[in-house]
Amino acid sequence: MSGARLLHFSRSEVRVFPDPVALGLAVADEFARVANEAVAARGQCAVALAGGSTPKQAYSNLAAAGSSGARKLPWERIHVFFSDERCVPPAHPDSNLGMARLSLLDRVPIPPANIHSLHGGDPPEVAALKAEEDLRRFFHLGPGEFPRFDLVMLGLGSDGHTASLFPGTDALSEASRLVCANWVSKLNAHRLTFTFPTLNAASEILFTASGAEKAEMLREVLQPKTPAPPAARVSPKNGKLMWFVDETVASRLGEMP
Ligand code: 6PG
Repeated sequence: MSGARLLHFSRSEVRVFPDPVALGLAVADEFARVANEAVAARGQCAVALAGGSTPKQAYSNLAAAGSSGARKLPWERIHVFFSDERCVPPAHPDSNLGMARLSLLDRVPIPPANIHSLHGGDPPEVAALKAEEDLRRFFHLGPGEFPRFDLVMLGLGSDGHTASLFPGTDALSEASRLVCANWVSKLNAHRLTFTFPTLNAASEILFTASGAEKAEMLREVLQPKTPAPPAARVSPKNGKLMWFVDETVASRLGEMP
């Protein structure tokens, strides 16, 4: 990946890109690499998309390159899930599904049945149960088993949250649910989120972060003290953990011993 610096920390590989455009291109390339590899190996690919604003650039890049020409992806074999969702209907401006539709899914030939929402428009607990049922059915899960995604994409909040696993919320201690409805008092709202066991069962987790306001938190996540921020508790049991960031958010990493 042109122009990237590579840094290694205990559990994570960090690739630092010059700017958000280069970052977005690299994230799209990694998505395409994982998708093509999974489809070639197993005939299908399961990816969980991140919400928020950072991944939009990558999703747009995928839409531009991923639906035609040499970079055409096997969308009919790619299944898209979401690592978290706001408790709003898809048409709401805050919806992660709505954002992904606008920036990617409505622009590529992915079958509607391959888009697995977290049912943000339903009552939170009903949505969580529906999402878990979908995961159990798709991944053929037995009791106590967790889904092994080919790729889970995550973002980082300046408070150290990822997905909708916010500091001080109940979902942080959830050890058996696949997806839960998480009350986030700072937002005065429920959120739907993959739990740590679901995240940590993935084959590859790709964090994407940009913005100077997250630089201190990234430093903390990569070198956690106790209590560790939620994002520092993402650690795939049998998988790869990667960070794709730009120089603004990596600005504090140079000071690390
Ligand atoms: C969400 C996300 C959340 C996000 C971070 C970073 O639904 O908001 O899943 O975890 O990734 O808050 O958001 P930005 O990319 O907008 O900074």
